[in-house]
Amino acid sequence: MKKGQQDYFYWEAKKKGYRSRAAFKLLQINRKFKVIRKGAVLDLGAAPGGWSQVAAKLGAEVVAVDLNPMDKIEGVVFIQGDITENETLEEIMRVREYYDVVICDASPKISGNWDVDHFRSVELARAAFNIARRVLKPGGNFIVKIFQGSDVQDVFNEFKPYFRFKKFHAPQASRKRSSEIYFIGKGFKAT
Ligand SMILES: C[S@@+](CC[C@H](N)C(=O)[O-])C[C@H]1O[C@@H](n2cnc3c(N)ncnc32)[C@H](O)[C@@H]1O
Repeated sequence: MKKGQQDYFYWEAKKKGYRSRAAFKLLQINRKFKVIRKGAVLDLGAAPGGWSQVAAKLGAEVVAVDLNPMDKIEGVVFIQGDITENETLEEIMRVREYYDVVICDASPKISGNWDVDHFRSVELARAAFNIARRVLKPGGNFIVKIFQGSDVQDVFNEFKPYFRFKKFHAPQASRKRSSEIYFIGKGFKAT
């Protein structure tokens, strides 16, 4: 393993009992933008569970969704499912109809081809947004990861009319060479 920032967050996660270094990305985003509230948080692409742990520690009631199984976290309801499938939305809504916050750190399987990975990530971000549009309470908040590429501006233009505050942000805990950025939308305007 290389020395540097990666190691720092990897070891910090181990030390603090987080299941992934990704937990620090959410902590940093939340420190800056105050996105997570007490109330209901829907975590899409949640395994192994770092973001769910952070949200639960902040006092939220968490519903987590992933293609892969996830070990139990106290206070977190887990649904195994594909966020691009309508039946997953139905399951999410069976647990709870409305959520205060929707967060999505879902990543496609990395192919190594920048464009392919970008387009798959955009597909996941749009799937997360479609879910958020159905379940977010008016005034609710949304975070979603996207890999940089040609469609990022289009995605931003699609999402931004729905939020009072909107921004792209790259947290310090993202790896230095990573192409990922996060769309942050606050104050959902239900239509
Ligand atoms: C980077 S990991 C998430 C890490 C997590 N935020 C954490 O803190 O532990 C990305 C996750 O997205 C999930 N994923 C990818 N495509 C998905 C899909 N279509 N539906 C649900 N989950 C998906 C993967 O299975 C993987 O567990």
